[in-house]
Parts: sequence; C-alpha cells; structure tokens
Amino acid sequence: MDGKIVTLELDPHHAKVARSNFERAGVSERVDLRVGPALESLAALSAENAGPFDLIFIDADKPNNPNYLSCAMRLSRPGTVIICDNVIRDGAVLEGDGHDANVVGARAAFSFIGGDKRLDGTAIQTVGAKGYDGFAIAIVS
Ligand SMILES: C[S@@+](CC[C@H](N)C(=O)[O-])C[C@H]1O[C@@H](n2cnc3c(N)ncnc32)[C@H](O)[C@@H]1O
Repeated sequence: MDGKIVTLELDPHHAKVARSNFERAGVSERVDLRVGPALESLAALSAENAGPFDLIFIDADKPNNPNYLSCAMRLSRPGTVIICDNVIRDGAVLEGDGHDANVVGARAAFSFIGGDKRLDGTAIQTVGAKGYDGFAIAIVS
C-alpha cells in the first residue's frame, strides 16, 4: 500500500471510467481502486491497518460527511491534510435551517472539524463554471 493512492467508488460504471483514465495516464500501478460503499471500503482499510495517508479527499454522498471524516481520522497522522468538497452549496450552508440533506451534510462537516481538537480547518470558497461552492480543508495535529 505504501506510496499508493487509494480511491473509493460506489458505481461500477464510474469505477470503469476511472480505471480507464488511470490506464491512459499510465498510473494504474499506483492506484488502488475499490468498488463499493465507501464506508465499507474504509472499514476494510482500517482493518488492513492501511495508511496513514498524507492527503484524504472526501467527495461522495454528502450526508455521510461526518462518518467519512471520522474514518479519515483513523487513517491519518499528524500533518495529514483532509479536504471535504462542496461545503458552501451556493451559500445555502449559511441560510436558515434548511433540511436539504446535502446542506445538513456540509454543516455536519464543519461541526466535526470544529469539534475535534486534533483538527485545524477553514473553508475556501470557489466560483466557476459549476457555480458558487467551496471546500473545507483541515490539518491533523
Ligand atoms: C462528485 S463525484 C466525485 C468526483 C471526483 N472527486 C473527481 O474529482 O473526479 C462523487 C462520486 O461519489 C460516488 N459515491 C456516491 N456515494 C458513494 C458511496 N456511498 N460510496 C462510494 N462512492 C460513492 C459517486 O458514484 C460519484 O462517482
């Protein structure tokens, strides 16, 4: 596992596209692509004593953000950088008490990062072709 990139994907078609892109880029040997629900793949990684990872990028089903962050902490070391994508959501993250599951997931990510003393984090806002959004970035101490 050392030096490898691990990527987790639920959808077999998306995994197939990713695999073919890794092949075209000549990096297949360096990538461990696991197909299935990420929480199951993350449990397997922990059971294998995988990691610690230098960088963990979370960009899947947003309601599970806190569960992914919790798994990420188990796979981290001091200095690991954790990024959680799509946490601004056109500003909805700050608007009222909406019950949109993705917005709730974004808020949960900030609550997790703010509530864990081992994490220092902030949010970077982005504006582009896909609109107004952003990512949370945190470092493990
Ligand atoms: C926004 S895309 C990720 C894009 C990727 N970060 C990139 O830059 O190309 C989200 C992906 O998460 C996958 N996904 C959704 N729920 C998942 C789950 N429970 N476990 C693993 N992957 C999941 C989706 O199939 C989708 O391919």
